[in-house]
Amino acid sequence: MSTGADGDRRIVVAADPDTLAAATEGTLRAAIAQAIAARGRAWIALAGGRTPRAVYERLARAGTPTIDWTKVHVAFGDERLVPPDHADSNYGMARAALLSRVPVPEAQVHRIHGELPTTAAAAGAYADALADAFTLAPGSVPVFDVVLLGIGADGHTASLFPATPALLEHARLAIGVTAPAAPVERVTLTFPVLNAAREVVILTAGADKAGAVGRALADDGDVETCPVRGIQPPGGRVTWHLDRAAASALAAAGIE
Ligand code: 6PG
Repeated sequence: MSTGADGDRRIVVAADPDTLAAATEGTLRAAIAQAIAARGRAWIALAGGRTPRAVYERLARAGTPTIDWTKVHVAFGDERLVPPDHADSNYGMARAALLSRVPVPEAQVHRIHGELPTTAAAAGAYADALADAFTLAPGSVPVFDVVLLGIGADGHTASLFPATPALLEHARLAIGVTAPAAPVERVTLTFPVLNAAREVVILTAGADKAGAVGRALADDGDVETCPVRGIQPPGGRVTWHLDRAAASALAAAGIE
């Protein structure tokens, strides 16, 4: 495993899937434990897709530092407009891999209600639930201790897809989107929330993501065509956890 750092950006490249999952688990455990030690509770936003599952399964087991899950609040970076027991549900995947195996109080799991009839309804309900849970003052933004994100080969993150209006949303906490790939109806946190985080962890693997990783970490580029470039938390650290295949374009681009 190799690690490079540039300011508040850290790139950790793992040699194999188990090492990638273990390294990502370690980063998440440290962030959660630090938040609980500092503020008595930790707020984490989980990612969907396939890659995080192995990390969630590791978090569900005993590990170091130990996590007092009764002090953890769990939310989601995005969700598909499907019921929680649907195969495409990000919440459903996290529940199976982690939430059903650790003692997070149910009232501290803040899922996006994908069973609602429209993405606008689900996004509005989610934003209201976060505002309530964080006891937000009007116009303020929830500060997550750690946000876990994945990226797509097109450079999307959460459900912030290239050339979509969601990239320009800076008022609402969550917004409904139409994704270019099924499932098309989704809800996503917006950049103001993602960038308020104390730490963002971006987990990605596979050669198909190498181009997006290279575009994301290059000196030049734009958010419109590579939305993950918009993840720039002014008060937070960004840790990239990659496998060698996803990192394969970095050396040629002089990025470490
Ligand atoms: C989703 C995710 C999405 C995901 C990437 C990577 O709802 O699909 O939030 O942003 O993280 O598409 O997905 P994989 O881990 O399956 O490659």
